[in-house]
Amino acid sequence: MDKFVIRGGEPLLGTVRVSGAKNAALPCMAAALLTDQPVILENIPQVRDIQTTRNLLTAMGAEVELGYGRAQHRTTIHCENLATPEASYELVKTMRASTLVLGPLVARCGRARVSLPGGCAIGARPIDLHIKGLEQLGAKITQEHGYIEARADRLKGAEIAFDKITVTGTEDLLMAATLAEGETVLENCAREPEVADLADLLNKMGAKIGGAGTPTIRVKGVSKLKGAKHRIIPDRIEAGTFVIAAAMTGGDLNIAGCNPAHLGAIISKLHEVGVKTRTNGDSVRVMGDNPFTAADLSTEEYPGFPTDCQAQFMALATQAEGTSVITENIFENRFMHALELVRMGANIKIEGRRAVVRGKTPLSAAAVLASDLRASASLVLAALVADGETIIDRVYHIDRGYEHIEEKLKGVGAQIRRIGEMFPKKAAAVKG
Ligand code: UD1
Repeated sequence: MDKFVIRGGEPLLGTVRVSGAKNAALPCMAAALLTDQPVILENIPQVRDIQTTRNLLTAMGAEVELGYGRAQHRTTIHCENLATPEASYELVKTMRASTLVLGPLVARCGRARVSLPGGCAIGARPIDLHIKGLEQLGAKITQEHGYIEARADRLKGAEIAFDKITVTGTEDLLMAATLAEGETVLENCAREPEVADLADLLNKMGAKIGGAGTPTIRVKGVSKLKGAKHRIIPDRIEAGTFVIAAAMTGGDLNIAGCNPAHLGAIISKLHEVGVKTRTNGDSVRVMGDNPFTAADLSTEEYPGFPTDCQAQFMALATQAEGTSVITENIFENRFMHALELVRMGANIKIEGRRAVVRGKTPLSAAAVLASDLRASASLVLAALVADGETIIDRVYHIDRGYEHIEEKLKGVGAQIRRIGEMFPKKAAAVKG
């Protein structure tokens, strides 16, 4: 299993480039299931979850080409024949977002069989809202042997109000509604930029969607969708991770190729603690030369502070002057990183959904364990400022969502190396 070895103490200096958004690429790849024509996606990040999605689609009969040259992060997905509209437990258990195929499959093939995701490191994460919404669109759903089976001759447009805001739930029903008969109105939708990006692709494919990125999305169903070419938006969570890393290490870092408009909550939180930033086009420069102070933080749905950057902010809070209270509102049990940070010398008390972080504590290198994707990122950030050499085990979690993070960090001055190699260099182009 791969590990990172990180020697702390170097400020991050220079320019780092942000990859395409994993959380936009995944639903866009699932959207290719809605048409028998090829869908071409550019700016696909080279991360493990993309490979898992490729495996998921090819197991159904899709042809997926992944071109991973230096400049070419592109995939072509052709779902002409979908012999097996199924997502197996083996794949769903490694990536919960696999449930994104449920809506498109039942809409296009009239049936879908998808494993229930079960628990994961950051809580129960049910998919009841996906199921309820599909039922409202007329699908017959049964559950057996750990699988959900959905069937419908043709879905029918409906008015659906989500009881709770869900990102992949919104995306799943949005995709299903594109091929439904009549109009669908989705209320209380997730407003994340990744939802709007998916809607952009779907509209290029011939869908009739309005309001994506707002709480109310209207979809006029069409009988067929066609192929399209689309460029995935930049990854705001990766960008946010670099913003926090620059501030923590007292660096001067230019984060290029991002969309600063998507980083509003993260940047304003950093301003609150006293970090200076400057935005220029698609770049954000972080000037971390002055000490920063504590601030309370609550995670919220977009445009609030993202739960996917909570763990990284907690690492920063260990180095802030004063006490920060961090409240996790989106997921229960998303503080696994806190215990590892404490092993490195942090002072963190967990009280239910709140973590009380007392700074500033010196961190010292230790052997630590990555428990999930964003928790791993927070351990990398802590290691960048820790005294000595930290060894982070199970970095396959970070490989799920960060493209070559060790190379990017090394490029801006971090002392980081990988033991083992997750992506063998020869696998430049993969066809499946
Ligand atoms: C997506 C992101 C993930 C991010 C999360 C919240 C992708 C691939 N993943 O995950 O990185 O952390 O949004 O921003 O885009 N819920 C239910 N029933 C449902 C669905 C969700 O109760 O049917 C609950 C969840 O348990 C959670 C909350 O709703 O408490 C939000 O979850 P959701 O937005 O669905 O997260 P994901 O879409 O899985």
